[in-house]
Order: sequence, then structure tokens, then C-alpha cells
Amino acid sequence: MSDDLGFVHRWVPGEAGTALPTLLLLHGTGGNESDLLSLGSLLWPGVSVLSPRGNVSENGAARFFRRLAEGVFDIDDLIARTHELADFVGAASGQYGFDAGNVIAVGYSNGANIASSMLLLRPGTLAAAVLLRPMVPLEPDNPPDLTGMPVYLGAGQLDPIVPIDNVTRLAELLKGYGADVSLTWQPTGHGLTREDVQSAKDWLAASRA
Ligand code: MLT
Repeated sequence: MSDDLGFVHRWVPGEAGTALPTLLLLHGTGGNESDLLSLGSLLWPGVSVLSPRGNVSENGAARFFRRLAEGVFDIDDLIARTHELADFVGAASGQYGFDAGNVIAVGYSNGANIASSMLLLRPGTLAAAVLLRPMVPLEPDNPPDLTGMPVYLGAGQLDPIVPIDNVTRLAELLKGYGADVSLTWQPTGHGLTREDVQSAKDWLAASRA
């Protein structure tokens, strides 16, 4: 674990060096930099992993940006934190030597939301994104160019936190900017299931084939 570059984080170099992508793992509310390491190795064994801990504390629960209430985001904070995270990824690439042009975000819940905010505000940071239980983070003032950007959305039909129409709106928003969006529904709630992992894994495998 390291706490430099502005985020407490873990960097796990991949077995194949820097030839493969780096997964940027972004945990949900109350998680930490270790939470998604096993998900990362299930999704793509042997790749390098960069896993920061969100810098915001909500009564002790780590998050990537502030919220005013459940599903109501502090947009100014979200914008500032999105740039902070994108800058961290660039600085980490300089420190650890991975290819900044080949970073795939894997975010769950709050982590998925800052990942989609990065797609909308700093699209050059990511080569692809796996967004698990995401919602619309914000509507950008300037349209990002997401032409051909592979984005996987893993949603739950029974999710009590993310309404179905919010996920479909996110899919349409990203598609409107040119992203190649794959929206997958699971018959479940906000928590991830084995099926989520398998589906995201299959999508990742297909998108690099
Ligand atoms: C958020 O605040 O990002 C979403 O409501 C998901 C969560 O509960 O963290």
C-alpha cells in the first residue's frame, strides 16, 4: 500500500509487464483500495492493477466524491474529484511505468459513478470502462468525444439504489457521445453476483479479441 500521489492506493504489477492494459479498480462507498483486487484478478488474471481509495469520508465511509443525499451528488465536488483522480492516473503511470493510453476502469457503485464522470469530463484517461451498478453522475457542459469507447454497464433490475430509467439514461448519454455501450441486466439488486462477474469477464475478453 502506498499513500503518495494524492491517494492511498495499491499498485500490483501484472505478470506480463506493461504490454497488457492496467485495470483501474474503483470501489463502492465504504470500501477501500483492497476491496476489488480479487474482482480484478477474476476479470483479467495477470494484468496490472491500480487501486486507489476514495479521498472523501462520509462518516468514515470512503467515497470518491461527496453526495448531498442518496443519489444526489455534490456536482462541484464531483467535478474536482474527477480531475484529481484523472491526474492521479497520469502521475501513477509516470511512477509505475504503465501505458496511460491503455487503462480500463472497473468501478462498482460509487466507483462506477466517478469512472463514468471521468468518461464524460476526462475521456482521454480511459481506454474502456466496466461500470457495475452505475448511475448518471452529471450532464457535461462540453460534449466529450467517446467515439468507439467500449463501455460495459452491469445493472440490477431490482436495484433499490439505482432506478432502471437512470441506467438507461446513462447508456443513452454515453451512446450519444459515440461510446460503444453494452448494457447488461441481472435479475438482482445492488450487490454483485457471480453472473455479473462472468458477464463482465466475457465482455472484456470479447472486446480485446
Ligand atoms: C453514489 O453515491 O455514488 C451512489 O448512490 C452509489 C452509492 O451508494 O455509493
